[in-house]
Order: sequence, then C-alpha cells, then structure tokens
Amino acid sequence: MTAPPASWGSEILPIPIALTDLFHIQQRKITMKFETQCLHAGYSPKNGEPRVQPIVQSTTYTYDSAESIGKLFDLQEAGFFYTRLANPTTNAAEEKLAALEGGVAALCTASGQAATFYALMNLVESGDHFISTTNIYGGTYNLFAHTFRKMGVEVTFVNQDDNLDELRKAIRPNTKAVFGETISNPTLRVLDIEKFAALAQAANAPLIIDNTFATPYFCRPFKYGANIVVHSTSKYLDGHAVALGGAIIDGGNFNWEQEKFRQFSQPDITYHGLVYTRTFGKAAYAVKARVQLMRDLGATPAPQNSFLLNLGMETLPLRMKQHYANAQAVAE
Ligand SMILES: Cc1ncc(COP(=O)(O)O)c(C=O)c1O
Repeated sequence: MTAPPASWGSEILPIPIALTDLFHIQQRKITMKFETQCLHAGYSPKNGEPRVQPIVQSTTYTYDSAESIGKLFDLQEAGFFYTRLANPTTNAAEEKLAALEGGVAALCTASGQAATFYALMNLVESGDHFISTTNIYGGTYNLFAHTFRKMGVEVTFVNQDDNLDELRKAIRPNTKAVFGETISNPTLRVLDIEKFAALAQAANAPLIIDNTFATPYFCRPFKYGANIVVHSTSKYLDGHAVALGGAIIDGGNFNWEQEKFRQFSQPDITYHGLVYTRTFGKAAYAVKARVQLMRDLGATPAPQNSFLLNLGMETLPLRMKQHYANAQAVAE
C-alpha cells in the first residue's frame, strides 16, 4: 500500500488499528485546499510514474502463493485481490471523495441508487425502521416506500419543515437511521441538517445525507452533524454526464459500539469472527459496507467509470462556481 502523501499533513486521526491501510482509510487530516484536493487527493505518483491514476482494467491481481491471497481474502493483510471489493482506480476516487467531504473512508458504487441502498442496508434488517424526509428523489422514494418495505423494513416520511418536537414523534425504539437530501431533487428544498442531526441524536441513530445536488463544494454535511454522506456521482461530481456512479462516505463520527448496532461490534462469522469496531475503529461502517455488501451484492463501479469520475472531480470547483453564477443570474 502506498503511504499518504507528505502534503496531507501529519495530524493522525485516532484509528487505533493496524489494518487502517487495508482499504485506504484516511489516517491523516488533509491540509490541501479544496481545489487542490480535487486535483490531487487520492493519488500521489512517485518519480516517473503516470501523472494521472491509470485505469486498472483488471478483475484480479497476481500473488506468489495461495497463502498470501488467502490472507487478503480473510482481511488479515492489505492489498487488492478482486475488483468487486477494491480496485486502484476506484480507490483513488474513493480517497478523493473522503477528502472532499472530510470523512474517514469512502466506498464507490455502480450508481447512486446502489449507494443509498447500501448505506441503509449496512444498518437495517427485517423488523427495523428508519425516518426520511418527504422531499427526496423519486427513485429513493420508491426504494424506501416499496422495496425496503418488501424486505420488512419500514420507513416513516416526515415533513422537513416541522419543528423538532413534531419530528421526534416519528422515532421508534427500532429506528436505525434518519435520511434527507441537502438540496432535494426535484423540489430544490434546502434541508436544515442541524435540526435533522438533533433528530438522529434523539433516535440514537446515524444521520445519512444525500449530498448529490450541493456537492462538497457548497456543503460538507459532516460539519453540521451528519454521520454518513451518499452521492449520486452521476450528476455534478462526474460533471459530463458520461459515467453513472454513487458513493458512500463515512464521517467516522458515530458510536457503533452499542447493542442497537451490534452488527458492528459483534463477531462476523463470514470473516472468521472479525469485529469491525475493534479492527477498523472509526471506519467500521465503511469497511463493513465494502466487505459484506459489495462482496454479497456486487454493485461495483467499472474502473473506466472511476477514471471518468476522477477526471470530472478535477474541475468540480470551476463548474460549481459557474452553476452558482448562472443560478444567481436567473434568480435576479
Ligand atoms: C439526489 C439523488 N440521489 C440519488 C439519485 C440516484 O442516482 P443514480 O441515478 O446515479 O442511480 C439521484 C438521481 O437522479 C438523485 O438525484
């Protein structure tokens, strides 16, 4: 694994584990400016190496022995072993997204729909409940109101303009998440993220924010109390309408070590008893999403699409500045 570049600064985030580099979990706070992160975060070529993260169009990776690949499969060693779980081109995009949002780790998915689905599936099981605002993308509404319901997971939709006392009435003992969009599609309503963070805290559940429309250029939801950010990267992050994609970014700021979320703090038999909180600390949520959901459900982005996403994100600040100016002109 390559070490984070020196320019990322030296302040170590408290991830008390040996395997932090396994899935490129951010161990250092980024000191580059946002615009510079858009260009350079996630990939730091050494002398003579390609300027741009190449497209690693490979399903598999070679190893000298069955023993070494066995250790990779059991998450005992760091390295790429199968592109469904991790790929260098996609990892570069993930590290960049984690840096831009100020999270500890990210997971890219084949579409925004897959990102939202995984973000919740990583928390809920049949019999659970979550809360969502009504002002959400239609595809997300269908996923919540119909597909999750078929799987035995119930959603309560709330009016995002209600006050906190009213919103709290939606909380149940089995509420596992609260969901909203920073700027809603298609109604363009701006969410009071802090109010919803307070609702999530009252429910003792993480706040998931779909930050697709704002992008981290205009809003970084972790600053306002969100715990997980999702994106349809198909929109402004890609910026050229060429690659469908999604992403989940883990804020590393929720306490998973509690009975309500025991799937993070109790042994996972499918990884020989691995305990996510113990092994991956603050990035337990992101790593579990990758190694369970990507392994079992497989909505992996193509390396080619990750390359296009990386390229698109390079110009994010320039494009968002122009969108802002256009919107201002129309409003005036
Ligand atoms: C806010 C928002 N979230 C999620 C999605 C779903 O993303 P995708 O189309 O990449 O699956 C969309 C798509 O329009 C969206 O606008």
